[in-house]
Amino acid sequence: MTTAEAEKKLSEYLRLSDDNTACEKSDISPIKTLRLKDYAKKYDEYRAAGLKSIKRGELALLLLAGGMGTRLGFSGPKGTYPIEEDKSIFGCLFDNLRRDIGDIKVPFFVMTSDKNDQATRAFFKEKNYFGYDPKLIYFFKQEMAPACDFDEKLLLEGKDVPATSPNGNGGFFTSLVKAGYGEILKRCGVKWLNVFGVDNVLAKIADPAFLGAVIEEHKSAAVKAVLKKDPSENVGVVCEKNGHPSIVEYFELGDEQAHERGEDGELLYSAGVTVNYLFDTSILLNTVGQDMPVHKVKKKIPYIGEDGRLVKPEEPNGYKFEILITDILKFFPDFLPVEVKREDEFAPVKNLHGTDSVDSARKLLEARRNADGD
Ligand code: UD1
Repeated sequence: MTTAEAEKKLSEYLRLSDDNTACEKSDISPIKTLRLKDYAKKYDEYRAAGLKSIKRGELALLLLAGGMGTRLGFSGPKGTYPIEEDKSIFGCLFDNLRRDIGDIKVPFFVMTSDKNDQATRAFFKEKNYFGYDPKLIYFFKQEMAPACDFDEKLLLEGKDVPATSPNGNGGFFTSLVKAGYGEILKRCGVKWLNVFGVDNVLAKIADPAFLGAVIEEHKSAAVKAVLKKDPSENVGVVCEKNGHPSIVEYFELGDEQAHERGEDGELLYSAGVTVNYLFDTSILLNTVGQDMPVHKVKKKIPYIGEDGRLVKPEEPNGYKFEILITDILKFFPDFLPVEVKREDEFAPVKNLHGTDSVDSARKLLEARRNADGD
């Protein structure tokens, strides 16, 4: 990105992030989730419907792997992290896929960014595409966003080189279409896109029951959710916002709302989303080119000082801009949050140790192996 392009993008992002502050102040209310016991009752019916659809070629997968994984403190693409001795995060995800649909193969899109595209492609090749058909794996890059200081002045990370970072996971479909893959979806008759994050090593992807649920319940979008383990857990929650199904991110949910409980004692906003979505592709196609809210986030951004040297700040010194997948729901008329069992489907890898970490994910993977009797 040239500095002129970065200046232009920056003013566009600043405009869209200002519009966004108004929507953050809006009221939210609870929304109904398909609860575990109701999901279990119709599980076989859902699974059969989903499997039929997958066999008809109506599902494609999209892996969000453009993020920087800063919290992990790992310089390579997050998916290449060796979560177990001989297994990368990417490897785990392909294992999960085989658990769900065996030998059936569906188109598999991988979103990378300028910062990790080459290394990601090289890793897939080195690992022989994890036993998947390489002809069905399509890489594309997401957009980058310029960063600015607190006075909204563009930051540079080199001489005439703007400081940039991946622009969040919400632009996935626009980037996919820009890469020319919209045509593949249309040509292959793909009706559903299962979009999932790189950092949940227990993610059940291409899950026939989940797909069957969205089809049978006549919805156009769905997400897998787990019951929050405590009010401060770092997960977005499903809700209704301005009368529309929505997700409020953990850093935007007020403390009072996070602690609010219903008469049954359960948190009012208890359904925490895992990054595992299903979207109707015909609606996604209409979102291309439409404005999405831009979130302005305070970050520590390395920049070139007046003496021409790179400064690595210890404290936040400016803003990065992100478009979030959670905001894409505004284009969908309805939405099905589906509760799944945390121990079966949620092992987020955000940090090295402690909560949501490599350590906790390893334990959960081991527990699953024990439950499987391996
Ligand atoms: C994310 C979710 C949150 C959810 C939580 C569960 C979003 C916006 N937030 O929070 O709702 O409850 O996980 O663990 O999805 N990514 C890109 N490009 C980017 C930025 C991120 O591809 O520019 C990818 C990451 O590689 C990752 C996923 O998006 O696969 C989630 O990204 P991250 O920004 O780390 O979200 P969290 O704050 O952890």
